[in-house]
Amino acid sequence: MASFSVLFDRLRWEEKEILNSLQKIGQKAELVDVKSISFSLDCREDCALSDNVFVRCLSHYRSWLSAEILRAKGKYVINRPEVISVCMNKLLTTIALVKEGVPTPKTYVSFSTDSAEEIKEKVGLPLVIKPLVGSWGRLISLARDNSSFKSIIELREAINDPLEHIYYFQEFVRRPPRDIRAIVAGEEIVACVYRYSPPGEWKTNVARGGFSVQFKPSEALQELIHRSADAVGGGLLGVDMMESERGYLVHELNSNVEFRGAQSAVNFSIADKIASYLVREARK
Ligand SMILES: Nc1ncnc2c1ncn2[C@@H]1O[C@H](COP(=O)(O)OP(=O)(O)O)[C@@H](O)[C@H]1O
Ligand SMILES: [Mg+2]
Repeated sequence: MASFSVLFDRLRWEEKEILNSLQKIGQKAELVDVKSISFSLDCREDCALSDNVFVRCLSHYRSWLSAEILRAKGKYVINRPEVISVCMNKLLTTIALVKEGVPTPKTYVSFSTDSAEEIKEKVGLPLVIKPLVGSWGRLISLARDNSSFKSIIELREAINDPLEHIYYFQEFVRRPPRDIRAIVAGEEIVACVYRYSPPGEWKTNVARGGFSVQFKPSEALQELIHRSADAVGGGLLGVDMMESERGYLVHELNSNVEFRGAQSAVNFSIADKIASYLVREARK
């Protein structure tokens, strides 16, 4: 039997499901609120958490940095902090995908409003503008014309956060009103669904009201899913893709994957499969 601490900051349906699934198969598992604990960094012994820590904080920074601390203290941490630090940052994710030859939307980055303007002149509109760190489609904008482009840049400049002043642009991929979410646990593709946008919304995030439909990925798509997961270091991941004229494009990897939408589309328990993966991976 292995023992697990599931670390959270805001308790979601997913964490409760995973806890239940772990307990159902006889594992020792507890939920721990990262906000209720503190660490001293100069000793390994002060940490009351279990040997295996599954990091599930909503805050990307809490996830990444608590994973770093806990591994330094000798815990077995899932996902690995290197994987979290790449997945939480869209720029680092794109670099990792491009390096491994994984097809991804055309992406441009600039460090000033002047060079953002130059990208717009060179590439043309529409352009998707994304914060480097974020989820649920929040603060992602579509600049369709010069006026909306200017307003989006002005808004971003007004935010008092240096990360918001690094501009990450993407071609607006001409795709059906859906994207693809695959949930991967190590070598296993646990589930694969189409996610459809709700009416009047171009983004397909389930958090924005999208809905999911299961499908069986082709062999080529399975291979792409595995290559994408490997490109960021593997683990328990959500791989998000779009269908385009150039074939599948991978636009995001999620190291803290939500699966309520995917669960509504399949007739097996995704949490059970995740729990089995955690047990396979765990330090006994
Ligand atoms: N380049 C793009 N072209 C068209 N649609 C996009 C593009 N990038 C993102 N989207 C849509 O916006 C959603 C959110 O983008 P994503 O990069 O996954 O950010 P988040 O981390 O906020 O989920 C995607 O699921 C997809 O529906
Ligand atoms: Mg996404």
